[in-house]
Amino acid sequence: MEVIIKKDYDDVCSESAAIIEEAWRRKNNLVLGFATGKTPLGLYEKLVEFYRQGRIDFSAVTAFNLDEYVGLEASHPQSFAHYMDHHLFRHVNIRKEDIFRLSGRPPDIDEHCRAYERKVRDSGGIDIQILGIGKNGHIAFNEPGSSLSSRTRLKILTPETVAAIRPFFQDEKEVPRFCLTMGIGTILETKTALLLASGKDKAGIIARAVEGPLTASVPASALQLHARAIFVIDEAAASKLTKRDYYRWAYENKDRALDPLKIIPLKTKG
Ligand code: PGA
Repeated sequence: MEVIIKKDYDDVCSESAAIIEEAWRRKNNLVLGFATGKTPLGLYEKLVEFYRQGRIDFSAVTAFNLDEYVGLEASHPQSFAHYMDHHLFRHVNIRKEDIFRLSGRPPDIDEHCRAYERKVRDSGGIDIQILGIGKNGHIAFNEPGSSLSSRTRLKILTPETVAAIRPFFQDEKEVPRFCLTMGIGTILETKTALLLASGKDKAGIIARAVEGPLTASVPASALQLHARAIFVIDEAAASKLTKRDYYRWAYENKDRALDPLKIIPLKTKG
């Protein structure tokens, strides 16, 4: 696990965009997993900027959305499909046929979820999965208690989540109670998990996810099992981590670590 601590939210987004740009340079047909929420918005702005500057070309990129509310059409302004179109896809040259989404109204939910898993596998797997983290530790819509090996499936939203999203819907009847979400097992199979967090209200849960015990009660703690999890967080979100100095030191020495003999010179006796 790598923890990168940046000064503020803007730097978190710049660093994350740079990680994606660097990955794209190495593999133009990158498979990216996209998250919604407030946190990744600044990252998506940077990706649009990079596209306009010619730094990233999305024509060979494949996209997978992480989750979706059950009951909403893709065109609904609160759907995650709409969010991704609005904030990223419509501004870059990604091909429509290379954007995969969970449907909010599939005819057969179980089959739809299984087919989504198959599509992820057929794409060669997700190279970089962008993630936010809920204050309760959820990643995607894997709320506390979710199985650490769960796959894409239907989840019931917690009463807190339903209350939090209520203001975004005009009609009570429209407010989603269910969602489809990639599972924690699905996320653990991605090649890189890139989690962004900002602000002091995330500090407690970041500390539990990064340094606390591995537990289904904090779904993001499952990333401790991930082969390559990168937390890009700002000072405020990092403020409760006990090993902050080590994370900073490791980040500062990362380039030198390419040649470990330079940072840990062998001591000779006598
Ligand atoms: P936020 O949501 O980015 O809006 O804080 C994160 C999440 O709930 O996953």
